[in-house]
Amino acid sequence: MEKNIGVGRALGKIILMGEHAVVYGQPALALPFPAVETKAFISKRPGPVQLDCIYYKDELVKAPDILLGLSEMVKGIVEAYGEKLEGFEIRIESTIPPERGLGSSAAVALATSRALYKYFNKPLSYEDQIKWAGVSEKIVHGNPSGIDSATIGGEEALYYIKGQPFQSFEMKLDGYLLVADSGRKGQTKEAVSSLRAWIEDNPVEGEGLIKELGDLARLSKEAVENNQLEVLGQAMNQAHEILDRLGVSDPGLNQLVGQARKEGALGAKLTGGGRGGAIIALVKNKEDGLKIGAKLKDAGARNTWIYNLRDGKDDK
Ligand code: MEV
Repeated sequence: MEKNIGVGRALGKIILMGEHAVVYGQPALALPFPAVETKAFISKRPGPVQLDCIYYKDELVKAPDILLGLSEMVKGIVEAYGEKLEGFEIRIESTIPPERGLGSSAAVALATSRALYKYFNKPLSYEDQIKWAGVSEKIVHGNPSGIDSATIGGEEALYYIKGQPFQSFEMKLDGYLLVADSGRKGQTKEAVSSLRAWIEDNPVEGEGLIKELGDLARLSKEAVENNQLEVLGQAMNQAHEILDRLGVSDPGLNQLVGQARKEGALGAKLTGGGRGGAIIALVKNKEDGLKIGAKLKDAGARNTWIYNLRDGKDDK
C-alpha cells in the first residue's frame, strides 16, 4: 500500500469515581466520552518530521516539553517499525479541551499511534496501543495508573484496578451526567505528586482516605449496575469531599460542585486530576442537565456537555 496518509481518532474519557486512589491500587470507574474526540492525520512531507497542533507547529524533535511524551512515543513507534523519522507530517485536531482531566493527552497519543499504524500499514494490537500510549502518559503524568489509556483505547466503561485485567461494566442508569469544564487547566502531574508527598507526611489519614475512595468506587459500581441514582449521587458527593481534603480540588471546582448541588444535582464531584479541569454532576433527566448546565455557565464554566448514562452517548 502506498504510504500517503494515515488517520487515527480517539475519544475523551470521564472518571466517574476513583481518580487518584487508582494510582494506589484502589478501583476506579471510567467512561469513554464520545462528545469530544481527537483526530491525528499523518501525511507525506519531505524532510524532518513536522508536528502541527494547538501548542506548536514546527519540527517534532524541537517540540517543547509539554509535547515530549508524544514525540518520544512517535520516535519509539517509528523505530519499532524499522522506519525513519523523516518524510511525514503529523497534524492533530481535537475537541477535547486540553489539561482538563478529560483524557486529552492519552487521546492524542492513541489517535497518533493509530494514524502511524495506518500510514505505515503495520499491525497495531490493542496491547500495543496501550503500551505506546503508556510511553507518552508516563512522561506527561509522571506515575499514571494507566486508566486513561485503557478507557480511551477500549472505548468501554471500565472498572479499573491498576495492574489487573481490564473489566468492562454495563451502564444501566436512568440518569445523565452533566460535565462542566471550569475553563482552567488542571494540573494532574502536580496533583499526583503533591498528594504522594501529603500521604507520606500523613500516612494514617492519607491511606484511610484513599481506601474510602476505593470503597466508594466499589459501591458506585453496584449502584450503576442496579440503577440506583441516589446512591451514586451520594457517593459522588462523599468522594468530592475526600478529594478536597486530599488537596486535589480548588475553590473554583468547589464552587461549581456546590452550585450544581444547589440547583438540584443528585451528586457532584471533580473528575480527573483536579486543581482546575472539569467537574461532573449527576442529574435525573436531560432537562435538569440543561437547566443546571446553564447555571454553571453563569457561574463561570466554559463549556458543558450532557451524557446519557444509559447508552453513553452525548445528548447535547
Ligand atoms: C487522571 O485522569 C487520573 C488520576 O487518577 C491519575 C492516574 O490515574 O494516572 C489523577
